[in-house]
Amino acid sequence: MMSAMPNLLLRRIRVAKERFVPFLRPADDNESLLRRHVREGELYGLFRNKREPVSMAVVADVSASFAAGGREAGLAPALEGLRVCECALLATAPAFRGQGYGAQLLMRLCGLYDGAYDAMIVGTGETPRMRRFYEGRCGFRPCFRRADFFMGGYPQPLIEDGVQLRDMLVFCRFLRSQGGGGA
Ligand SMILES: CC(C)(COP(=O)(O)OP(=O)(O)OC[C@H]1O[C@@H](n2cnc3c(N)ncnc32)[C@H](O)[C@@H]1OP(=O)(O)O)[C@@H](O)C(=O)NCCC(=O)NCCS
Repeated sequence: MMSAMPNLLLRRIRVAKERFVPFLRPADDNESLLRRHVREGELYGLFRNKREPVSMAVVADVSASFAAGGREAGLAPALEGLRVCECALLATAPAFRGQGYGAQLLMRLCGLYDGAYDAMIVGTGETPRMRRFYEGRCGFRPCFRRADFFMGGYPQPLIEDGVQLRDMLVFCRFLRSQGGGGA
């Protein structure tokens, strides 16, 4: 399916990034956080036929959080002192979901950031579907939690697949040049 898809192009977008906020909105209900990620992070899209975005993501450098004494170093000893990037937003256009685009984009980003970074993390609500996606499809492993992350900054309680979200579960994948496969 993916390999048969013609003209699937990975592009980094540097100009007028905010025009893709609506595309990425399903990835985060916290509007100010969403806009900050788009503004400050590195934005990528998988485009069909050169111009039609099917899946998009934002990657940010979060190494400082895992430096000795950093905000999250104590939560994830395995990441302490490593060069860590975070896939802060990921969304596939509704019409294209379930066709492998999200996994392909994330895997291509792991390849792109391999070398400059030792590991990629991604945080999500803890639902069976998200576990299937990040663990089953993309080879990430559960790493640590951001306690009560979804309890503040959101307009209303977040319910996904019938589960009220509370903690953010952070998955990790070590990148190959660091010397390992999965976390
Ligand atoms: C999560 C998301 C990015 C996955 O992208 P995708 O292109 O559909 O992913 P793939 O086709 O590569 O993989 C599909 C898998 O994703 C998971 N998945 C999670 N949410 C899904 C959804 N709404 N529709 C389809 N699959 C979904 C399933 O595990 C599915 O595997 P399955 O078919 O075995 O059940 C996409 O569903 C999406 O944009 N959701 C809304 C935004 C979001 O929740 N972003 C992640 C925030 S952490």
